[in-house]
Amino acid sequence: MIFSKIKGVGSYLPKKVLTNKDLEKTLDTTDEWITSRTGIKERHIVGSDEQTSDLAFEAAKKAISNADISTEEIDLIIVATTTPDKIFPSIACNVQTKLGIKNCPAFDIQAVCSGFIYGLSIADKFIKTQSAKNILVIGADSMSKITDYTDRSNAILWGDGGGAVILSSSDQQGILSTHIHADGQHEELLHVPNNNIKNKIKQTITMQGSQVFKIAVNTLDKIVDEALEANNLQKKDIDWLVPHQANIRILEATAKKLQMSMDKVIVTIDRHGNTSAASIPLALDEGIISGKIKPGHLILMEAFGGGFTWGSALIRF
Ligand code: UT7
Repeated sequence: MIFSKIKGVGSYLPKKVLTNKDLEKTLDTTDEWITSRTGIKERHIVGSDEQTSDLAFEAAKKAISNADISTEEIDLIIVATTTPDKIFPSIACNVQTKLGIKNCPAFDIQAVCSGFIYGLSIADKFIKTQSAKNILVIGADSMSKITDYTDRSNAILWGDGGGAVILSSSDQQGILSTHIHADGQHEELLHVPNNNIKNKIKQTITMQGSQVFKIAVNTLDKIVDEALEANNLQKKDIDWLVPHQANIRILEATAKKLQMSMDKVIVTIDRHGNTSAASIPLALDEGIISGKIKPGHLILMEAFGGGFTWGSALIRF
């Protein structure tokens, strides 16, 4: 039987750091409010000369090196992003060029904060149908480029970064299941409207935060049950929760549902903020580098985001 297994992980954060104290200087907010309502203390922000493709490329290089494969062995590139450098070409094509690879298929997908789970799910099917052997799956976003820094309800949340994995065919268990979903009917609760202001298109995130919060918590509850039931596993079997990092209170609610101590949750939101499609691979990489996540551990990844989209991946690392 063919399985798909994560062979290497890498991540990258831009150097510039924006702290809550920095935001206090320009917004009617406080470090105390942001910390207590979101868990965020600081986030990384791209410089004026940096693009999402740079974050994706830096993360990809590390994942390829950690997987110990050559770039020629990569036969598919998938990038999950909501903030591509341009409408086209895709970031995946851009990363392909930067890596010096030719001919393999490369495409972007857009499922906002659930994008990395969507990407893993697609890659898993390519491997299990023997259409590819080594797939580079990247989640990268520069959310600062679509954030209105005069809107205190949004400016405090978002950060920039990139994370990547090499998913390879294996005779050992890796991805046990992926589940992905969408429901487009609540678009107005979380979206980037096309606001035409004085003939200039201003595209920034608009969110009804407290309503999104409630739907996210309820949906993530169901994701956990769905993943466990599909694999005939119990809550206690999970070694690590590697969640999308939207709000520490959402992470705590999911951990409670899993009857899991927060010690078993990889938390990066305090230093990264919400990096959308990048947040899960960034957290995964941090879990590995810190020595918490070890080969053989059972990991549940889950995400909820704009669309709405949501999903999970249960993985034997
Ligand atoms: O990753 C994609 C999915 N996204 C999410 O899952 C995000 C979900 N939502 C959230 O994380 C939270 O709803 C937020 C962090 C966005 C907001 O927290 P909240 O506890 O839901 O606050 P709220 O929107 O209900 O606002 C409470 C109060 C309001 O004041 P009044 O009306 O009670 O006087 C806001 O105006 O807090 C005020 N407020 C702030 N105060 C200080 C909103 N933003 C700020 C701020 N600083 N930055």
